[in-house]
Amino acid sequence: MILVTGAAGFIGANFVLDWLAQSDEPVINLDKLTYAGNLQSLASLQGDARHIFVHGDIGDRTLVDRLLAEHKPRAIVNFAAESHVDRSIHGPEDFIQTNVVGTFHLLESVRAYWGGLDEAAKASFRFLHVSTDEVYGTLKPTDPPFTEENTYEPNSPYSASKAASDHLVRAYHHTYGLPVLTTNCSNNYGPYHFPEKLIPLMIVNALAGKPLPVYGDGMQIRDWLFVKDHCSAIRRVLEAGTPGETYNVGGWNEKPNIEIVKTVCVLLDEMSPRADGKGYAEQITYVTDRPGHDRRYAIDATKIHRELGWKPAETFETGIRKTVRWYLDNQAWVQQVQSGEYRQWIDKQYGAKA
Ligand code: NAD
Ligand code: DAU
Repeated sequence: MILVTGAAGFIGANFVLDWLAQSDEPVINLDKLTYAGNLQSLASLQGDARHIFVHGDIGDRTLVDRLLAEHKPRAIVNFAAESHVDRSIHGPEDFIQTNVVGTFHLLESVRAYWGGLDEAAKASFRFLHVSTDEVYGTLKPTDPPFTEENTYEPNSPYSASKAASDHLVRAYHHTYGLPVLTTNCSNNYGPYHFPEKLIPLMIVNALAGKPLPVYGDGMQIRDWLFVKDHCSAIRRVLEAGTPGETYNVGGWNEKPNIEIVKTVCVLLDEMSPRADGKGYAEQITYVTDRPGHDRRYAIDATKIHRELGWKPAETFETGIRKTVRWYLDNQAWVQQVQSGEYRQWIDKQYGAKA
């Protein structure tokens, strides 16, 4: 049994789907179901006894203590977070509450649980904290990609909150000996990605005939990894990573934003051409830049490859094609998200506070 937090979100949902496709080890999914939590993404697991969904907050000590005592997981994978940089600029408080305070409470519950395990269970237990490359700050054009040795220089409220949580996780290893692992991954893309993030937003706006908003000059660089490759990296780190170590995860796919947007447009031109015969690129609109926008991220994934033998299965070309195809084939999922219909079930099930 493993406990996965935030698994109604983009990466967590992909992780649980992949996990249960490869193993019969059950998963408890603890998720607060914020706007980003969407149980429709896990609809294929309905009735599957291996997936136990629990609606709740990682910061709820009573609930987490009870879950740990009841299910006795051998590992925890912590995805739960507020994840969108623009939202953190507009309203940072939820980011501090979940990413910092919530992670702290989760660690406290886990420390107490772990302390009560027998020696063998204690030794094999793992707490894997899922983090981001954004904690390292921004790179100049000639800088080498981030390694695990780079200093933390977070620039947005989001990345500062993730950096704080990473430091807490690290401290619980050094102070209490908790067997933690931290992964710092670059930008993910793929199925079930909430359409506020660059790639899904461009796909759904393009199909809806809306503008494709490119921040600033569009020459900011991100390093893209297909979400299933992130999931395989996490599984590998969980299986073979050394407690106390951090692992950078990335696909060696640095691209300027404008190139990403144009690639999406070209794929849509091929797979779902506009009725008027024009290209989707006509919808590209340059807009005001994001405040404090980091210019470039890039991950050096040498350590995870060398020490754990992990490498991504997808190239950017294969991954982005699969992603565009997925959005075209899953219009119902997109429409439920856009109309807010995905919340109706949650509100009915759990009450309006969800
Ligand atoms: P997401 O926003 O899609 O999903 C987050 C999930 O966490 C949602 O289901 C939400 O309901 C849940 N959640 C939020 N607050 C919670 C709380 N207090 N208690 C329990 N559940 C809560 O995020 P994502 O893109 O899937 O990212 C998952 C993790 O991976 C985050 O920690 C993020 O920082 C990290 N990460 C994301 C990327 C990326 O490109 N998306 C890259 C690197 C790292
Ligand atoms: O690097 C990893 C991070 O990647 C994760 O930790 C975050 O959780 C995840 O949200 C993502 O952060 P970004 O800020 O890089 O992702 P976003 O999709 O918001 O933006 C990607 C780039 O595209 C960024 O340079 C901003 C730009 N952008 C974004 C949007 C939404 C646009 O130009 N236009 C847009 O409309």
